[in-house]
Amino acid sequence: MSATMTATPAATATARPLLSIRGVETFYGKIQALKGVDLDVGDGEIVTLIGANGAGKSTLMMTICGNPRARSGQILYRGEDISQLPTHTIMTRQIAQSPEGRRIFGRMTVMENLQMGTTLVGQEHFDDDLRKVFELFPRLKERAGQRGGTLSGGEQQMLAIGRALMSRPKLLLLDEPSLGLAPLIVKQIFEAVRELNRNEGLTVFLVEQNAFHALRLAHRGYVMVNGRITMSGTGRELLAREEVRSAYLEGGHH
Ligand SMILES: Nc1ncnc2c1ncn2[C@@H]1O[C@H](COP(=O)(O)OP(=O)(O)O)[C@@H](O)[C@H]1O
Ligand SMILES: [Mg+2]
Repeated sequence: MSATMTATPAATATARPLLSIRGVETFYGKIQALKGVDLDVGDGEIVTLIGANGAGKSTLMMTICGNPRARSGQILYRGEDISQLPTHTIMTRQIAQSPEGRRIFGRMTVMENLQMGTTLVGQEHFDDDLRKVFELFPRLKERAGQRGGTLSGGEQQMLAIGRALMSRPKLLLLDEPSLGLAPLIVKQIFEAVRELNRNEGLTVFLVEQNAFHALRLAHRGYVMVNGRITMSGTGRELLAREEVRSAYLEGGHH
């Protein structure tokens, strides 16, 4: 298994930006959570954002989706500033989110949860897309009739990603998919993300406290401290940096 977790080669430097975040500031009341964030996600890239608990990672991901809204700055998606669009409009732009804490529907079955992912795109591709999700996560097929709330943490995470995929995204936003999961399950989930990126060309923005695995998976990464980006580079470069190692890797699970 570990042989398949070697660092992903860097995406071509010419990858055009799918998402460009410029000077974004986000507030909760008077508390400023994002203090001028610049970040790019190229078309076809896996980009990760790492940082300690409370740094502002989830806030950035949610700001991309328009809730909370950026108070200033720009969020350019395919060149269009989406920062002032309503969330439901942003979600029609082929952006899908697997939020922190998974938020699957516990009383609905696995199949019903997956059907919820198709609300915006209709049923036309349902069979094809379902087959792909089941190929990616065979466990979900075995559990298709089971209620979401009865799944293990890892299965719930697979379901959250599967549901996001059913909306046929171009850009997949993943918030802490490894949270609370056993290392073997984390590897399976990250390997699935890598396959989606390689085989389907899916662009991925991955928020993680699990810096080691995230930086090995991602083409490029950013470090966030207290609402600001403090470092960026290829996954490999960041993994090698002393500041990253001492703050995010030493004593971590790897
Ligand atoms: N709904 C909220 N209301 C007020 N403050 C919040 C809210 N959500 C997050 N925060 C604050 O914003 C900061 C960034 O939080 P968050 O984006 O969740 O960080 P991370 O995802 O990196 O752990 C933290 O100081 C947190 O306490
Ligand atoms: Mg978070």
